[in-house]
Amino acid sequence: MADALYTGQFCPMFIDGKQVPAQSGEVLGVTDPASGRSIATVPRAGASDVDLAVAAARRAFEGPWSKFTPYDRQEILLRIADLVEKNWDELCVTDTLDMGLPISRTLGNKRRVIGMLRFYAGQATALHGDYIENSVSQSMITFTTREPVGVVGAIIPWNAPTAASIWKIAPALATGCTIVLKPSEDAPLVPLRLTQLMQDAGLPDGVVNVVTGTGAEAGAPLAQHPDVNKIVFTGSTATGQAIARAGVDTLKRITLELGGKSPMIICKDADIAKAIPVAAMAVFAHSGQICIAGSRLFVAREIHDEFLHRLSEYAQSLKIGHGLDPDTDLGPLINARQTSKVEDYIASGEAEGAKLITGGDRPAGAEFDGGNFLRPAVFGGVGDDMKIAREEIFGPVISAMPFDTLDEAVTRANATPYGLAGGIFSRDLSTAHKMVKRLKAGSVWVNMYHAIDPAVPFGGLKMSGYGKEGGVEHLDAYLDTKSVWIQTD
Ligand code: NAI
Ligand code: MG
Repeated sequence: MADALYTGQFCPMFIDGKQVPAQSGEVLGVTDPASGRSIATVPRAGASDVDLAVAAARRAFEGPWSKFTPYDRQEILLRIADLVEKNWDELCVTDTLDMGLPISRTLGNKRRVIGMLRFYAGQATALHGDYIENSVSQSMITFTTREPVGVVGAIIPWNAPTAASIWKIAPALATGCTIVLKPSEDAPLVPLRLTQLMQDAGLPDGVVNVVTGTGAEAGAPLAQHPDVNKIVFTGSTATGQAIARAGVDTLKRITLELGGKSPMIICKDADIAKAIPVAAMAVFAHSGQICIAGSRLFVAREIHDEFLHRLSEYAQSLKIGHGLDPDTDLGPLINARQTSKVEDYIASGEAEGAKLITGGDRPAGAEFDGGNFLRPAVFGGVGDDMKIAREEIFGPVISAMPFDTLDEAVTRANATPYGLAGGIFSRDLSTAHKMVKRLKAGSVWVNMYHAIDPAVPFGGLKMSGYGKEGGVEHLDAYLDTKSVWIQTD
């Protein structure tokens, strides 16, 4: 099925309701990271293509799309949800082929991702302002209306293209905004395929545009475009900072979902058998390429050695392979650059004196030739100041550290510039609750990890960004409030 889907064909981008190449005619190659095989090409867009897309989004915003009532927008979102559901398996195969996440996981996101579309469909008809009692005069009526911010620029990374696209597009449609989405050059195929489904659902031209290209050539022009009102970005902290700077001249509204170095705290009364697979997959799930990776593992000293032993055994039991193999637990890393970056981190851990208990090398075997595979690595004896304990690795590497008191665990867990997420394992909910209150993180999971729901806000603190995605708060970021005064005398 996969080979039949992508055989090196050109996949155009989507501007103003049309499938188009880049104006320059240039293309970028799209690669299967598990085999190194070229699977497609996409337009290599530049600033002039971004201009066209933003102009189309502006025309749609001022024109046809502004005539759509909340109920009309809800209907469109529900039709898109139905089409995404109908084509789910194909979208998952495309995503797995493009960026390597094992098919069991891409398929497994179905409820959540389609749920997002239906959640925002519901929100479309729940938008409202307030009636406010003013103290200026009883003959004056005051109320607020909520209005779409306008043209939204969305820039997403490679690691979850389907969910990330929908998390940007659905709230834009629910609120009446229009959008120009720039996918990662490493995983553009699903965002392009989604535009076809959106067109089939009856979305007017220009409401959703997808421009493919590199960060420098297509992302940066979008981030600084004077006619873009808001930027939503998911990706690295460094790029998030560049985007925030680019938005200063035109004072864009900005939502940033950035990197992390999230702590996973295993208390001495934890249910170890339950905690092992969760702590392992909190990092290894997408070979570590997850913003919320629980990559700093704090384990109570009483259970530390046993925990690391069992965690390493678990890591060794994970099946590495092509993401399209249904038995694969761990797929490839996205590209050769990312793989050698992770290898450099592993080398730095060893050089700084941490103990590599398992993994961190390339798996042997012909089936791994051409792919970007690494065996899952568990480091023990990690010091808080080591690079592998401080920086976002974005690879299958766990850095484990013992702790003696809960107070110390929380203090060390918070001693990071990041604040995206955190995990706590304890059988005592009162202990867990006290730690939840103290952890400086946007999401905290207790005796579990990873759960994300369309109705539950998600987003980071500190250098992990600002603004929430998910929940009702998400829509606030796509809306302006207008205050209206009417003299009735
Ligand atoms: P990135 O953050 O640079 O790329 C994310 C998106 O931003 C891509 O679509 C890219 O084309 C675009 N982009 C890049 N530079 C831009 C600019 N100046 N203006 C506008 N858009 C721009 O991440 P990249 O290069 O894919 O990976 C580098 C590192 O970032 C990884 O090794 C990892 O550590 C981290 N990362 C973290 C993510 C997270 O969710 N926490 C996601 C992706 C990467
Ligand atoms: Mg790819």
